[in-house]
Amino acid sequence: MEIGFGMGEATAQIALSDPTTGYLAVEVHRPGIGKLLLRIEELELKNVRTIEGDAFEVFEQMILDSSLDGVHLFFPDPWPKARHFKRRIVNQEFIAAVAAKLKPGAFFHIATDWQPYAEWIAEEFTKQTFFTGGEVDRPDWRPLTRFEDQGINKEHPVADFRFIKK
Ligand SMILES: C[S@@+](CC[C@H](N)C(=O)[O-])C[C@H]1O[C@@H](n2cnc3c(N)ncnc32)[C@H](O)[C@@H]1O
Repeated sequence: MEIGFGMGEATAQIALSDPTTGYLAVEVHRPGIGKLLLRIEELELKNVRTIEGDAFEVFEQMILDSSLDGVHLFFPDPWPKARHFKRRIVNQEFIAAVAAKLKPGAFFHIATDWQPYAEWIAEEFTKQTFFTGGEVDRPDWRPLTRFEDQGINKEHPVADFRFIKK
């Protein structure tokens, strides 16, 4: 499952390179959903389903506990201002919600190009007991999205995190 796929570039490329795995792509932003549906058609992908909705509601209403093999969260909105930190999706409630839906041994992969958010993520994961893991090298399988490209152009270092559900 990918949460907040944006325009779906990474989703489509990952699904194309791994046709035997089913991908569930969740996004609240309608134009992004349209864009991914177009890519699915162009690339004739048979292994992607999209859901228009908030990840929390999707978890609550549509996903069984211990049912997912992995979750991708690529470049979540960084909400850089202190008064907006409460909007950051990576928090204790979200970590617990993802943990509940993952099978034991399943992964939670997060990437961010906002260094203060990387520090925030590392800190949030020290407070929980569902996962082991931490920062890792950029994996080859994660495509460079337009969003990441912009970050790199602005010389924002990208941090990848990989956590494993106990
Ligand atoms: C900064 S963009 C990154 C998009 C994409 N992952 C990429 O790397 O280009 C963050 C995306 O997360 C989506 N988003 C934020 N909160 C969400 C939620 N609760 N459920 C689903 N999508 C969400 C936003 O609509 C936005 O498209």
